[in-house]
Amino acid sequence: MLEAGPLDMFYGDSHIIQGVSIAVREGEGIAILGRNGVGKSTLLKGLMAGGPLVRGPIRHEGAEIGRLSNFERARRGFGFVPEDRRIYPHLTVAENIAMSGHAVRAGAAPHTLDEIYGFFPMLRGLSNRLGFELSGGQQQVLAIARAVYARPGCLLLDEPTEGIAPVIVEEIAERLIEMRRASGLTLILAEQNVWFARACTTRLYLLDSGRVVFAGSWPEFDAQPELSARYLAV
Ligand SMILES: Nc1ncnc2c1ncn2[C@@H]1O[C@H](COP(=O)(O)OP(=O)(O)OP(=O)(O)O)[C@@H](O)[C@H]1O
Ligand SMILES: [Mg+2]
Repeated sequence: MLEAGPLDMFYGDSHIIQGVSIAVREGEGIAILGRNGVGKSTLLKGLMAGGPLVRGPIRHEGAEIGRLSNFERARRGFGFVPEDRRIYPHLTVAENIAMSGHAVRAGAAPHTLDEIYGFFPMLRGLSNRLGFELSGGQQQVLAIARAVYARPGCLLLDEPTEGIAPVIVEEIAERLIEMRRASGLTLILAEQNVWFARACTTRLYLLDSGRVVFAGSWPEFDAQPELSARYLAV
């Protein structure tokens, strides 16, 4: 459904992403792994027209989308949860969710709030709570719920587990696995948490200094334990 690259991405004179190609099939989940600063967020933002200057082809369902705006990509069915979550602090949980109503996939209706609370039960009791009153984990779940509300066909998640309590990390993994099973959601996940990435995806791309140093399935990754020692271990 998405075929991109080779891509180069820049912030000013800094050449951050260097010749990266990724592809994801409809309903597939892929992980982008790598240490701090290797370019995971830059890659996701570039795919969403959300920051860096991007050079190279990005094809979605046969169409070149590299010149489309962020909003037009959302209308094509891309949902993005940035690493800083961008919860509106002075809006309620319900209002935060409804904010993505303007970015619904073309031809689709947004979910109802009740459906969203069905997917993410922990948010139901928090519906009238303000954004700034939520814990980090609750904010992360809200950010994902808000993206899901717009019925994306492909969800891009940037390190949803960073700084989140393990019990909520497990909860988020369960929700994502269930949504992939039930609705065929395509997932592009930037992560450093290998357990979580493995639970939610079938393949991974390992980045180092803006380049892909490994691409393959989880069993292929496991067969080369030096990869995680070299490119992931602290
Ligand atoms: N807005 C920006 N302007 C200039 N340089 C940037 C900008 N955002 C990121 N960078 C630089 O790009 C490089 C890659 O950063 P990026 O945020 O993509 O890494 P990351 O893999 O997401 O790291 P982390 O795991 O810490 O989130 C870093 O050297 C960073 O300093
Ligand atoms: Mg990042």
